[in-house]
Amino acid sequence: MSADHILVLDEGTTSTRAIVYTPDGRAMHVAQQELTQYYPQPGRVEHDAAEIWTRTLACVREAVAAAGGADRIAALGITNQRETVVAWDRGTGEPITRAIVWQDRRTAPFCTRLREEGHEERVQARTGLILDPYFSASKMRWILDHVPQARELGDRLAFGTVESWLVWKLTGGLHISDASNASRTQLLALDGADWDEDLLDLFGVTRRALPQVVDNYGHFGTCNPAILGAPIPICGLAGDQQAASIGQNCLTPGDTKATFGTGAFILTNMGESLPASAHRLLGTVLYQASGKRIYALEGSIFVAGSLIKWLRDELGIIQYAGESEALAASVPDSAGVQFLPALAGLGAPHWRPDAKGAITGLTLGTKRAHIVRAAMESLTHQAHDLQAAFAADGADWSKLRIDGGMSVNNWMAQDLADILAIPVERPADTETTALGAAMLASVGAGLHRSLAEAASMGSAAARFDPAMAEETRAARIAFWRQGLGHQLDGPA
Ligand code: G3P
Repeated sequence: MSADHILVLDEGTTSTRAIVYTPDGRAMHVAQQELTQYYPQPGRVEHDAAEIWTRTLACVREAVAAAGGADRIAALGITNQRETVVAWDRGTGEPITRAIVWQDRRTAPFCTRLREEGHEERVQARTGLILDPYFSASKMRWILDHVPQARELGDRLAFGTVESWLVWKLTGGLHISDASNASRTQLLALDGADWDEDLLDLFGVTRRALPQVVDNYGHFGTCNPAILGAPIPICGLAGDQQAASIGQNCLTPGDTKATFGTGAFILTNMGESLPASAHRLLGTVLYQASGKRIYALEGSIFVAGSLIKWLRDELGIIQYAGESEALAASVPDSAGVQFLPALAGLGAPHWRPDAKGAITGLTLGTKRAHIVRAAMESLTHQAHDLQAAFAADGADWSKLRIDGGMSVNNWMAQDLADILAIPVERPADTETTALGAAMLASVGAGLHRSLAEAASMGSAAARFDPAMAEETRAARIAFWRQGLGHQLDGPA
């Protein structure tokens, strides 16, 4: 039997998965484990990096066994939750503290201080990112300031985002980060091959703790055979949102996708031109090949699937996530209920780490269906706010490709088409993040000659066309804007 399957590690915020792809792009086995979420204080979100490793390893072993053994695997691709910072001791290979997750807001005061000192324009021009606790640099600085072992370790301290951590563990000491993940740290200039000295100084992060920045596909190293039974080459790496763009075949400038996972992230391919937003969007590396970069504009919504999870686990008004579709469709509108989903602050284009969630407009006549519908509508309206910002930055969407766990919700897909007033497309296999990592690994291993060729691994798409009456649409948008303004800025 030949080694022609691709193994993908898709390490998300709430779960870690290993998926084996057949050469034609079929996911033949999926192994999945949940990750423990730690909320030690309001605004803080942590992961146990040792748990990420052990649960990922268990999934990988299950998937490799299901594929018929490591000898069937041609290459490994890794995709991951971005910005989350792991700090470990190079000597022991063990984490020295909990990983600080991208949703964590603890460094908001530090970011505010940098903004007040006038650094935001320069940082944004150089990195494409605005000063917000979302990104890795301020989290690394926090660890250096608050975890004594971090400074005591000296040269033995290693920082990395999650792909970096997993590669280290799988290879037994290779310390690399791909350009798409590195571009989310706020320590890499959009057009810089290596970490930026000025930014390292500004954030007070030591260069020697950081990984080497590499392409998104190639032959980066091999897994320790003692771990998986064969020296599987690592051939693809990408942040999950960039991987989803690739999996959605967003390979031509203007192509746009929205992934509805823990959060929702919309990226438009901007080609080789450096993205510069005047409307509070992010510029980011979509991928790098042979040192050459393709860029994207990004709008990041911090709460999407996690909002539905919160409705289920904390409010208990739905039993299972899929119930949100039927409930939203069971009422003609939200009956005046509005949901401001700022459960982890607000991301693009508002960037309000201090914002808190709110449900308004409740009456004795409010049913749980109205609350669920208002929550779902809030996702559409955030996407619509982003659509306006992208258009103002010169990236007008002609259609939107959606994916991720929540995108199977037909009501949401139609609501997006209606409010955005453009067609929405959804592939049959909505796990495009993992598919994108498989495409990268396939090209890196030489099984396909290019990402365009590897796109043959993708599936056919369903299409949702706008159908809402313009009057209803305009009223929905006006209601959202009024409520958002009231919540963020107080009554006019
Ligand atoms: O930037 C954060 C993002 O990478 C998290 O993705 O899939 O966990 O929502 P996800």
